[in-house]
Amino acid sequence: MTTSTTTAAVTRAVGTAHTRVEGLAKVTGAARYAGEVPDPELAHGWMVLSTVARGRVRAVEDAPVLGMPGVLTVLHHGNAPRLDGNYMNPFGLPDPVLQLFQHDRVPYAGWPVALVVAETPEQAREAAEALVVAYDEEPHDVAFFAGRPGMYTPEGSAQGKGDLEAELAASAVVVDAEYTTPEEHHSPMEPHAATARWDDGRLEVVDSNQGSRFVADELAQLFSLDPGSVRVRSEHIGGAFGSKGTRPHLVLAVMAATVLHRPVRVVTTRRQMFSLVGYRSPTAQRVRLGADADGRLRALDHQAECLTSTVYEFIERSADYGRPVYDADAHHTVNRAVRLDVPTPTWMRAPGEAPGSFALESALDELAEKCGIDPIALRVRNEPAVGPLSGLPFSSRNLLACFEEGARRFGWADRDPRPGVRREGHRLLGTGTAAAAFPTLSAPSTAAVTAEADGTFTVRITASNVGTGARTALTQVAADALEVAPERIRMRIADSDFGPAIIAGGSMGTRSWAWAIIAAARELHEKLVPGGGIPPEGITVRSDTGAAIGALTKKERHTFGAQFAEVAVDITTGEVRIRRMLGIFAAGRIVNPLTARGQFIGGMTWGLSMALHEEAIRDQASGGHVGADLAGYHFAAHADVPAIEADWVDDPDPDDPVGIKGIGEIGVVGAAAAIANAVWHATGVRHRNLPIRPDRVL
Ligand code: MOS
Repeated sequence: MTTSTTTAAVTRAVGTAHTRVEGLAKVTGAARYAGEVPDPELAHGWMVLSTVARGRVRAVEDAPVLGMPGVLTVLHHGNAPRLDGNYMNPFGLPDPVLQLFQHDRVPYAGWPVALVVAETPEQAREAAEALVVAYDEEPHDVAFFAGRPGMYTPEGSAQGKGDLEAELAASAVVVDAEYTTPEEHHSPMEPHAATARWDDGRLEVVDSNQGSRFVADELAQLFSLDPGSVRVRSEHIGGAFGSKGTRPHLVLAVMAATVLHRPVRVVTTRRQMFSLVGYRSPTAQRVRLGADADGRLRALDHQAECLTSTVYEFIERSADYGRPVYDADAHHTVNRAVRLDVPTPTWMRAPGEAPGSFALESALDELAEKCGIDPIALRVRNEPAVGPLSGLPFSSRNLLACFEEGARRFGWADRDPRPGVRREGHRLLGTGTAAAAFPTLSAPSTAAVTAEADGTFTVRITASNVGTGARTALTQVAADALEVAPERIRMRIADSDFGPAIIAGGSMGTRSWAWAIIAAARELHEKLVPGGGIPPEGITVRSDTGAAIGALTKKERHTFGAQFAEVAVDITTGEVRIRRMLGIFAAGRIVNPLTARGQFIGGMTWGLSMALHEEAIRDQASGGHVGADLAGYHFAAHADVPAIEADWVDDPDPDDPVGIKGIGEIGVVGAAAAIANAVWHATGVRHRNLPIRPDRVL
């Protein structure tokens, strides 16, 4: 395949604003989501979750419920079909979270203990609520706090160089501060849902997920099926943010469809999402920075703690954030965890980087204050030439360009550095800034591009458009590679039959899929003879980018950004209002400015929400959540979000065929720190515990 960079002369669609190719279908309701695919034969499953946080299911008293109107079956550990106990998740690890109804153990509150299936959703729900489940309860422990007993250091989670204590001792200025972030939930607008049916020996699934091929392969494993007999589609998705892997609703829908020999749908309720689809672990972080009087870092120590479950180890790698961003003579970072009786946390938009950047970028602001230098000047002073720990060159690093452009547009030069001196009635005003960085990854994918007899082109790739606009961006990429208008491209995505492709995750979906599409499209373009005929079945070229991506030289590949925020803090109510936010990003070639801006602004809004609103509260006594719904779990509403501005500097990736880097997660990184730093600038008080609630401000 070719990896040469697209020349400007050939490029027509990439870089120009395009509305979403599926936009009309979405706004007219023609687009069907996994929970609304019509099927006249459909039965409906309703999950029953454990009410105790640890113990065993003694009995599922299904007899009374089986006599209720419309009830078809009640599945539980006593009668469910066996799943493959050797199942491995896509990381090649045993993941017992999907071993549903295979044993009587309850590892946390909200673990699925039964599925009631009925003719209608209402009947299923009524019966599920009437189902009595008896438990043998055991003591549980869900208390997360800094330095608690049981905290361990997972394999490979520490990196470092240099003598930390010696450099701290030699430092003119030292910051030593502790930060906390609470448990946070993805809360995508579309809850997780799946419809499963057997069709002529083939399992046909419509599910809401981030990667249909991965999900299909996992189902094949779990149910001991030939991978070719499983098809998963997920054409439209209403948000995912890391939560939409293979989830319990899907496994149970397949189980019920298999047992009942009829199509079954299972929809996860908003409340159930709090224990079934993952979340971001709370964190407790200690940052120690030591610097010379001019702000040059001698020591950087970032210790981050998180929780994981007793079922599966997932680590929120907060301490990883600073590894490529700042250098120091002694540079140490470590992530630690404790296993509690809680659901397994998972990737949530900017996993690690979101909480990690809050701590480190806040600590740098504290260091700038102590050194008496401007926070941007501090970052300029500590800009590394190569990867601080790896020694590898950066593919491109335009962090300072982001600060320069951001400072100019935000009006940073006029800023009075003194805190607590700008008053407007009963409000104190302040501004803050922070850096952002996120890894740039790519993963092997396959694609097929067909030249149709009517002069159009069909692209098939198991890409997933989780709401980002990826489908539109890929249409633009394909158009340029084929040298035709985007209107002539039919972009078919999210069907496991289209072959292996990476998930929409790690900010690498569009970059990885575009690579595969370009490889096939360019080869096809060369094959097509001007004026030559195309047979009725079209001409198809397939690609696989495994070799090309495997051959990439090792470099520090990242996106960067500069975040700015202005806040007004009401000293009578403690309310923090955001006046404005600006984010300038160096995030590769921007394929579609319209949807890219939406991605950046969406990410920054997440940062705003993280700074001021989001916090899931776990009740120590029950082990479950208090207020597990969108009334109890606050996130930013429209009224909380001012006009946020996002823009970018030129930063094409030199190793990518289009120059793409990936933009899904960088927007949230650093945003909460910029806000917390602005709150300090307004009030003179450091807020090291998120969210910055009114009661904490007063
Ligand atoms: Mo994203 S948290 O990598 O799905």
